[in-house]
Amino acid sequence: MTTDRNIRWHAGRLSIAERASRLRQQPATLWLTGLSGSGKSTLAFALEYALHELGYSAVVLDGDNVRHGLCKDLGFSHEDRTENIRRVAEVAHLMNDAGLIVITSFISPFRQDREQARAIIGEQRFREIHLSTTLKVCEQRDPKGLYKKARAGTLPEFTGISSPYEEPLAPFESIDTDRLSLEESVARLMNLLELQPIER
Ligand code: ADX
Repeated sequence: MTTDRNIRWHAGRLSIAERASRLRQQPATLWLTGLSGSGKSTLAFALEYALHELGYSAVVLDGDNVRHGLCKDLGFSHEDRTENIRRVAEVAHLMNDAGLIVITSFISPFRQDREQARAIIGEQRFREIHLSTTLKVCEQRDPKGLYKKARAGTLPEFTGISSPYEEPLAPFESIDTDRLSLEESVARLMNLLELQPIER
């Protein structure tokens, strides 16, 4: 494909299927969405570890971490969040093409942005997982003290308080970390991946 910017796509010799067969797994992206404090990062990293222990290759893209590098120029306006999610979706897509299982943990509060992520990553690979832990519970947990700051008015545009969170209408899976243990939540997501056993 050529474009009017004089750039052109170079196709490699390896197919996505060849990469996937080397890693003995079907690449997919589990897209975790939910309020700050809903348990996204904890679940994402626990799942990544569990998959690694079983011999699979998975990687987490985490909101706070990505904002240290790739997205450090972005803030929390609607526009910046949209760009944050777009970049992450493009990275997840590349990582899936490399054969990896990707777990993303971003608030990703806007439906339209998550739909754009689905379009970038591809319907076949994208699994929207709603961390449905209630605002009340997230605010009680307040692990980083951010809800307190938001209520005090010192942290603007905070999701759930002064910026909206649009719940998924038809998520692939919903997980309330107030009701399920971490092990149960990990097991549920493992089931979604329909992993083939790896012979050692
Ligand atoms: S997203 O909305 O663009 O998807 P992302 O998941 O990357 O957000 O970042 C959320 C993290 O940034 C939160 O876990 C929290 O630690 C921190 N944060 C700082 N300011 C805000 C804010 N105004 N709203 C939400 N999270 C914030």
